[in-house]
Amino acid sequence: TFICLMIGYDLDVAKAFLQEGKTVAIPTETVYGLAANALDKEAVLSIFQIKNRPHFDPLILHTHAISEFEKYVTHVPKPLQLLAEAFSPGPITLLLPKKNIIPDIVTSGLENVAIRIPNHPLTLELLRNIDFPLAAPSANPFGYVSPTTAEHVNKQLGTKIPYILDGGACNIGLESTIVGMEEDQIVVYRLGGLSIEAIEEVVGNVTVQLNQSSNPAAPGMLKSHYAPRLPLIITNIQEYIQAHPQQKIGIISFIHDYTNEYANCFRLSADGNLNEAAQNLFTALRHFDDTDVEVIITEKLPDSFLGRAINDRLTRAAAH
Ligand code: TXA
Ligand code: MG
Repeated sequence: TFICLMIGYDLDVAKAFLQEGKTVAIPTETVYGLAANALDKEAVLSIFQIKNRPHFDPLILHTHAISEFEKYVTHVPKPLQLLAEAFSPGPITLLLPKKNIIPDIVTSGLENVAIRIPNHPLTLELLRNIDFPLAAPSANPFGYVSPTTAEHVNKQLGTKIPYILDGGACNIGLESTIVGMEEDQIVVYRLGGLSIEAIEEVVGNVTVQLNQSSNPAAPGMLKSHYAPRLPLIITNIQEYIQAHPQQKIGIISFIHDYTNEYANCFRLSADGNLNEAAQNLFTALRHFDDTDVEVIITEKLPDSFLGRAINDRLTRAAAH
């Protein structure tokens, strides 16, 4: 453990720690990552330890340009190349066949490596200034909600890492969308900050195959994930409040503000804007942690664009 915790904007400090094989929290447009040198096995192992993450759950490789991919993967299928060109830097992660330079610990022994170019000026600059890629999962303890501010990271992992690079609040707020190929079919394995609609505009129809098991042979997302400390129920908010007059309820609503003398409400977007709702979602899920609320209730959002990924996260949080 480090006694002197630092949060700051200093790329040289972040770089120095990373070069020593240490882990540093980094901002991205999706969520904060817990980064280390992806080519250094020991450094990667420490990420798993700090997060308390099982080794069968592989990590995403972060780099700064599509031209870097060839150092780490044997080839890029045409449709995935098109997606990379259309949306990188941005909230898309591609599954590509890895070269041996990538340690097995990064991919949990799988043949594909997940790779992405984060769209955050500080982190892009950092990646350009180091001569290795960064392996980085979301910077939260395993199973908990992903962090979208430096303060979120500090609260849970602050004593375990030497530096948090502060890049402000994440402007997408949901993890990246994970895309790969099976035979000739384009498959989305995780809904995220890039919508299916946007992807299909570039490459046509895709298959959505959301993994809900913890089977090491087929990693993806565990069904119960992204969970806040309190139980979360997806319901009709108005009806639930009326049926439970005695309960201390925290509400996460899409548009309407249900605050009254009994219930505390966090609304995601007064204008019904799905992008804004995504930006606020993880802050909302953390909001009631330090209150005396007994249960959080929420509602489904429209199931299109980022609403679909938001509903996916809410469903997983409710499965806890
Ligand atoms: O937006 C993001 O993707 C953030 C930021 C920090 O980049 N990262 C992130 O990482 O969400 P993490 O580790 O929390 O989630 C990565 C997911 C995991 O569920 C993992 O199973 C999947 O990506 N994954 C990673 N490598 C994979 C691989 N080689 N094959 C299949 N799934 C993989
Ligand atoms: Mg995660």
